[in-house]
Parts: sequence; C-alpha cells; structure tokens
Amino acid sequence: MSDQVKQTAMNYDIDRPAAENPIKIQDLSLRDGHQSLFATRGRTEDMIPVAEKMDEVGFWAMEVWGGATFDTMHRFLNEDPWERLRTLKRYIKKTPFSMLLRAQNLVGYRNYADDLAEAFVDRAAENGMDIFRTFDALNDYRNFETVVKGIKKAGKHFQGCICYTLTEPRLGGTVYNHDYYINKAKALKDMGADSICLKDMAGLMAPYDAYDLITTIKKEVPGVPIHLHSHFTSGMSSMTTLKAIEAGCDIVDTCMSPYAFRTSHAAVEPLVMSLLGTNRDTGFDIKKLAEINEILEREVMPKYKHLLNEPKMSIIDINVLLHQTPGGMLSNLVNQLREMDALDRLDDVFKELPRVRKDLGSVPLVTPTSQIVGVQTVNNVLNDKDGERYTMITGQVKDLCYGLYGKTATPIDPELQKKALAGYARGETPITVRPAEVLEPELEKAKAEIGDLAKDMDDLIIYAQFPVTGKKYLQWKYGIVPPPDSVRAITMEEVKKADELLKKAKAGELIEPKEGTPEKSANVRTFNVFIDGEYFDVDVDPTGDAPIMAAPAASAAGPARPAAAPAAAAKSAPAAPAPAAGGAGAVCAPMPGMVISYSVKVGDAVKKGDTVVILEAMKMENALKATCDGTVKSIDSESGESVPKGAVLAVIE
Ligand code: CO
Repeated sequence: MSDQVKQTAMNYDIDRPAAENPIKIQDLSLRDGHQSLFATRGRTEDMIPVAEKMDEVGFWAMEVWGGATFDTMHRFLNEDPWERLRTLKRYIKKTPFSMLLRAQNLVGYRNYADDLAEAFVDRAAENGMDIFRTFDALNDYRNFETVVKGIKKAGKHFQGCICYTLTEPRLGGTVYNHDYYINKAKALKDMGADSICLKDMAGLMAPYDAYDLITTIKKEVPGVPIHLHSHFTSGMSSMTTLKAIEAGCDIVDTCMSPYAFRTSHAAVEPLVMSLLGTNRDTGFDIKKLAEINEILEREVMPKYKHLLNEPKMSIIDINVLLHQTPGGMLSNLVNQLREMDALDRLDDVFKELPRVRKDLGSVPLVTPTSQIVGVQTVNNVLNDKDGERYTMITGQVKDLCYGLYGKTATPIDPELQKKALAGYARGETPITVRPAEVLEPELEKAKAEIGDLAKDMDDLIIYAQFPVTGKKYLQWKYGIVPPPDSVRAITMEEVKKADELLKKAKAGELIEPKEGTPEKSANVRTFNVFIDGEYFDVDVDPTGDAPIMAAPAASAAGPARPAAAPAAAAKSAPAAPAPAAGGAGAVCAPMPGMVISYSVKVGDAVKKGDTVVILEAMKMENALKATCDGTVKSIDSESGESVPKGAVLAVIE
C-alpha cells in the first residue's frame, strides 16, 4: 500500500488530500463496545456527554442499540430501551443509527412469532432506527423474511450478516469455506440487502483470509457494499481490518479507544493515522476524537472500570485461537463451572465442546447458539456417566433439534435428535419449514397476560420478549414496585469513595475490622481492585434502603464477555433460599439461576420424571424433574426469584 501514500511527511491540518475512496467507519462504542467490555451496562446518561461531539466526527453510522442492550437495560439498569433511542436521537441528528437485530430472535433468545417480529421492527423504525444489521445464528435466511419485509416497508437500510465461524484454525474445511460464504453473500444480495456484513463475532478472521474472502466476494457479488465486523478478542482484528480495507472493503467497525480492544473492537484512532494520506483516508479529525476520549476518560469510564473484570495482564485471549470459540462463550463456561465448583473440569469441557457442536449440526457459535452449545457441553461434562451421553438436555437443545431455530449447517446427529425429541411437546418429528411458520401469534396472548401494566405497544414488546424481567421492569416503571438499589446508577461520588478506600488499603490503613460487622445485603456491589499486581475484590454495600430482590444470577451480556455479572450476583444471593440438604423428594437447583415457572402446584400428584420447575441459568431454560412419584408437598420459590446452587425449589412426598 506504500505507493498509495501521497507524501511521507505532511502537516496534518494543511496537506491532507481528500481520499479517492475513503473508508467508511461505523462506531460501535455505544453498543458493542460496552457490551463487550462492560457486560452491556452502559447507561444513557453516560452517552450524552459525548453524543453531540461524536455526531460531528463523520461516522457512516453509530451502532447504539440492539444486541443485549434491550435486555440489560430493563433488567439491570431500570431504563426503558425505547427511551434511549429517542433520547440519543435528540443529540445525534446527522449520523444514522444502527442496531444489531437477531432476525426472528429480535433482541431476545428464541424465535418469536411473526406478529411480534413485525411489531418490533415497526416500533424500532418509528423510534429512530435507520440501519438494521440483521443476523441469524444459523445463517438460515428464512429467519430474515419477516423482519426484512418490515425493514423495507419502513424504508430503512437492511444490512444482512453472514456469521463468520470456523471449524479449522483458518478459513477452509468441509463446512465453512469460501463457497459457503460466497453462497451466503449471493443469497443476501438476492434478498435485497443494502449492504452485507461479515460478522466475525469471535475474532477468528485472519488478515489474509479476510483479504482473499473480501476480494472474492467483491468480484462474485458486485454492487453491494461489504462491511467488516471483527472482534479484537484474539488480537488479529486491527491487522484483519487493514487487509480488508486493502481488499476493497467498503465499511469497517471500530470503537473509540476507551471502548476498544480486549473482546471489543480495534480502536478508530490508530486506523485514522494508518490511512492518513492514502486513497482510503477516513478524513476524520483526530483532534476531535481526542477531545471525545478526554471526556470519556474523565466523566464516564471511572463508573465502569469495576466491570473490567480482568486480573490478567494480557488483553488478548489466545484460547480463542486454540479453540475457535468466542471469548464471551469461554468466559461464560468458566463462570458456570466456577459457580458449580467444577473449574477443574475445564479441560473436559474443551474436549466435549467440539463434539457437542458437531452433534448439533456444526452451528456457528454466536448468541444464542453459543449458549446452547456451551450450556449443553457443561451439562454433559457434569451429568453424563456410565457411557450415557446427553442425560440432561436443555429445552433449547430440544428446540434446536426440532428445527425451531432453523436449518443447521450439517445434519444434527440422528440419535441425539431422537433422544431430545422423545416426549417433546410440539411433536417428535422435526420440522423443515421456516421456524416461525409453526409459531402461534403471541402479541394478543401477551396483552391478555400483562393487562394494563403495558400502556402501549413499546411496553407490550418489552413484556412479550422478556415475560419475567419485563413485567418486573414495568412494575418499576409505573411505580407499582420500587426499583431495588441494585439497578441504581453508580455515581462519581461512589467511585471516589471506593478509590479512597483502595488508597487506604494500599497504605495499610484498613487493618482493624469494625466491631459487629453487618451482614452483607443483596445490594452489595463487587469492585475488582488491583494493587501492585495483586487482585482483590471489594464489596461495597450501600446502607439504608431495604433490599427488594437479589440480582438475577444469569448475566445478559450476550455473546460478549459478561464475566463480571455472574460473579457479583453469586455473592449477592442471600435473599434467595439457602441451600438445604433436601430429602429424597426434594427438587434442587443443580446450578445457580432464576426460577422461570412451576409446572405443578402444591397437592398435585406427580410421577418420577415429570417436569416440576423451569430454571433459567446462563440464558438457557432447564426443566427440573421429579425424582420420585408422590404429591407436591411444597413449592419453595417463585417465578423471577434468583436461587443459588442447591436451593430446594419444591418437595415431593
Ligand atoms: Co459484535
């Protein structure tokens, strides 16, 4: 590329020729940036200080919504997701907004019915969304049909994604090779995609593979702009982005540097300098970027640094290179094992994971398939014995085997499929049609359930996608139940207090424990603290308000690393029932999680193997079964309650 550099030395302000073909840049700081680094906990109030300045940079678009934001906002931040869109639109008037849409999964974790999908797209467009980056975890574009119709009807930009995944260390092999990606790109063009995104969620795309692949797609699928989304996780993405640009990639994704690197994305500033004076010069004013960073570092980042849960020196994860799995999925697995006191089984999990993935049709690993494969792998490692595999199959694996997520890249193992579908409520024969064809409309049913608590369609959509946490949120929103302290924003005052404590600790001034140490409450917040390379976690417990609920045990960070959340939640579980030994008929939580619903009530007669309660852990629903015949003597928890491992959820006698 050196011959394209016009001058070797130049005055940044004066001698900067306009580029012939400037690379377009989408900023991800306000969605994927904090989703990747801070468990999606970014608050709207912390976006406003930089919003107007970011609007001046000249980004092709700013990704500000979708993905896990919708879930975390209502669940953990007590924020209305729709309101964020409208608020940011008041500050960001020129730059188009972009969102990550999980196709028929919308911003949740299963395929929703067409009526809900139509309503969601319509409301998102109405509330200010411009570009709908749409992906399906299986790259099954039948799952695009309904939302694309809505996007086009609203006159918005449809960006179709190809989830990039590998089964080998580099691009190739029998499943995910050049032909696979070119065919997918052609299919997207045929669907009317306004642009095509190569979505490298795990940071697996190697620089030269990107160069070859993009060169080929530009040639074979002309006329549709190509957009690269490559996570930094493995450390390759800055190089991959540069090679993609050389290959003629039209748009690339970056973050402002405080939101960049680690499991997030390459930073924009080094790219601006790298391309300065070339035919792909961004044209961005690097001083403007520096001003934004200064505000972020001073006013925003201190409130989030405790979420950067990394006692490691290295900012890259070479496990991703070794195992071809997304970093977020790996940290989920580690957390899940840790919570179950089974971290010593990690190597077994690494061995089992490719087998489970292959059995389940070599699916790409991205939300929700990364969780489906990950949780099932852990289930197998911890529960299978005497040579029997898949002794505890999650509800989502059953749905996948039924075809409810779509068509897998390779056929699902027939033996597993048969076992998973034995007694499956929808039927034992898998479907081959577009999954939503078999889904009943759900908006009216949701409306009947939630009643007047949902004041408009936006409320109803929150509830329809997240019945348990969505209802809780609407109760906070309309003042029926006061929100717990745990969803309150951290203030700069608190950050300063925590920093002072640290300083004292470092100086050895925090030695004498106070008499009568109080019990930790459910509102305790855990800060990760590093002193001279040593790692501590410091619990800060606000005094005053009574706790209302424990933080949900499962994190909502989606594919990116949610490491901080489950650890903190596990520590704040005293509000949940204490683990008990439980008699022979006790149905206990095999892992920490949230009770979704009971299938029985006190007094019901049950048979061994009947489903008693559905427990959500790591986003997956697990049906917990009766361990003996008998009568339900007690129901010991309730829907929405977070429970620790071992908690007795029901007793059968
Ligand atoms: Co991403």
